Amino acid sequence: MDVTAPLGLLAELTHRCPLHCPYCSNPLELVSRSAEMSTVEWTSALSQARELGVLQVHLSGGEPLARSDLPQLVTHASGLGCYVNLVTSGLGLTEPRLHDLVERGLAHVQLSAQAATPERANLLAGAKAFDRKLAAAELVKNAGLPLTVNVVLHRQNHDQLGEIIALAESMGADRLELANTQYYGWALRNRDALMPTRAQLAAAELVVRAAVERLRGTMEIIYVVADYYEPFPKPCMHGWGARQLTIAPDGTVLPCPAASAITTLALDNVRDTALADIWYRSESFSAYRGEEWMRDPCRTCDRRTTDFGGCRCQAFQLTGDAANADPVCSRSPHRGTVDLILAAPSTSDLVLRGPAR
Ligand code: SF4
Ligand code: FES
Repeated sequence: MDVTAPLGLLAELTHRCPLHCPYCSNPLELVSRSAEMSTVEWTSALSQARELGVLQVHLSGGEPLARSDLPQLVTHASGLGCYVNLVTSGLGLTEPRLHDLVERGLAHVQLSAQAATPERANLLAGAKAFDRKLAAAELVKNAGLPLTVNVVLHRQNHDQLGEIIALAESMGADRLELANTQYYGWALRNRDALMPTRAQLAAAELVVRAAVERLRGTMEIIYVVADYYEPFPKPCMHGWGARQLTIAPDGTVLPCPAASAITTLALDNVRDTALADIWYRSESFSAYRGEEWMRDPCRTCDRRTTDFGGCRCQAFQLTGDAANADPVCSRSPHRGTVDLILAAPSTSDLVLRGPAR
């Protein structure tokens, strides 16, 4: 098949993070500080990404502000002509730091929020983060940068959805991403406590629909559904190895941010293999590209060019084989696994994310 160039790079600069969100999708085993790539290695990776065709660079983590070389990396990525987005908790963002990053070419900030009230938000973040996020949003708006607020939704904050939308408005967000939890990495171990109820999702649909109408032209709202409840899976990553790649803090190159969960996948590292080779020729990126890997029911399904068989990571996690149809799919022989999960008793015990060393 013809492989086209990637559009975006998710550069996970570090797994270190001041927050402890129970829905964290980073892997259970985080990359330690000592294993992180150096500034030189990151600038080389960014240059290679641009040569490959990447136009959007999302500097992420963990918390990218934990890297003292973040300014150099922003300079480098924007100097290559990339649109540079900072994906941050906001903790550690000060006016001088932001001013410096903007001077160096930072174009956009994506700020996470946990809930609409300080008590709930701080509980979920495992840190006193709420006020600092409000301050960070104000800095971003004062700097004239577009702001996206990202909120992961789950059983423990769905009841605040209306207030969360109002909070994003008060922060001056240009875009609000309301994403029901995706169960990868640390989030998977908290699934029974995070899974929203059917009633919560039905209520959310009405709230979101009304807000989309009311805020049209002011704040764009993206709502990511709770896929376990859906009859068909999400078109995960718009297809494997199709549009975006992820580089983990230690240089491991991933076809999707959660791909290290697929333990049968042989992953390459940009420290010892050229990024173009990894994108175009590696076993990991080729494994589920296109349709050749598909088996029934995806192989002959009329939706295979729409959802690409769903999510490989979810197929692996729930069925043990990443080449199976995403078990969320009502046509999958494994759909019963998802139904059993939905029928399982819930718990309110959340395990907060532990720190990276
Ligand atoms: Fe998508 Fe496969 Fe389900 Fe068809 S059978 S809807 S391609 S996951
Ligand atoms: Fe990895 Fe969907 S999260 S393919």
